[in-house]
Amino acid sequence: MKKKPLTVVVYGKGGVGKSTMCAHLAVSFAREGRKVLLLGCDPKADTSLRLMGGRRPPTIVDMVTGLEGRDFRDLVMTGRPGLDVLETGGPSPGQGCGGRSVATLCQYLEDHARELSGYDTLVFDVLGDLVCGGFVAPLRFGLGRDVYIVSSEERASLFAANNIVRVASAPYHEGVFVGGIIFNLRQNDAPPGRLEAFAARLGVNITAVIPRDPDILESEERGLTVFEHAPKGKAAALFRALAAAIAGRKGAVPGASARAMPADEFAEFARGRPIWKGTF
Ligand SMILES: Nc1ncnc2c1ncn2[C@@H]1O[C@H](COP(=O)(O)OP(=O)(O)OP(=O)(O)O)[C@@H](O)[C@H]1O
Ligand SMILES: [Mg+2]
Repeated sequence: MKKKPLTVVVYGKGGVGKSTMCAHLAVSFAREGRKVLLLGCDPKADTSLRLMGGRRPPTIVDMVTGLEGRDFRDLVMTGRPGLDVLETGGPSPGQGCGGRSVATLCQYLEDHARELSGYDTLVFDVLGDLVCGGFVAPLRFGLGRDVYIVSSEERASLFAANNIVRVASAPYHEGVFVGGIIFNLRQNDAPPGRLEAFAARLGVNITAVIPRDPDILESEERGLTVFEHAPKGKAAALFRALAAAIAGRKGAVPGASARAMPADEFAEFARGRPIWKGTF
């Protein structure tokens, strides 16, 4: 029997570093010999830009009018060896609904199950957090199994992370795993004990702590990952270790075992000891 693909779905507050994680995971997995499809759900197409040397791929939304009967190969672009990219794009600002675009992508994937079966690794870069029900589509369609949450040490980001655990651990998402939290720090001297306390309250694993690192931003500006921009740097080593941990599903807990804090408990947690001086 064919092994189930590794499906990684990355959620987190806007701007927290989801596309950065997805791009580096996709390249790490491909370098390990996996056949990877990166699924971008972002009007900015950030992940694709990094993986395609700054070129923007065609998007499902761009082509939506002519989508019927359009060949899968017309939309999927090859970034690097072992790595394909399929970008949903999004509606024009002020028009349409981003969540609906994600659901359109999932429907498209369901209709192209045969082409999808050629991949052993799917990485979903879903825009935003789970405030909009449409963003949950990869879980609802049963396309995504391992949920990773990207969060900084800041309160608003932890608030989103808590909500994501709430959705991922909902009983109707049977078979979903909360793989862990990837802490992507805003400030490198964030108190580590605080991050651990947060993860422990939710019953989830900390998969990685990535510091603020100028190599990450500089590589983005060049349309590259840190593996090409600064291959010997600290960020490259951390992203490689992150990919290995995810491939090994170390610490992944069934969604139902993770537990979101109720709103009052989160407020008490955030107030208890300031997470970060001056941010709230
Ligand atoms: N650890 C880091 N060190 C330095 N820069 C970083 C780090 N993580 C992310 N960045 C930069 O921060 C910006 C936002 O990151 P990214 O685009 O990955 O966030 P996102 O969560 O995907 O955002 P969106 O919600 O808009 O899709 C990018 O310019 C990225 O290069
Ligand atoms: Mg993004």
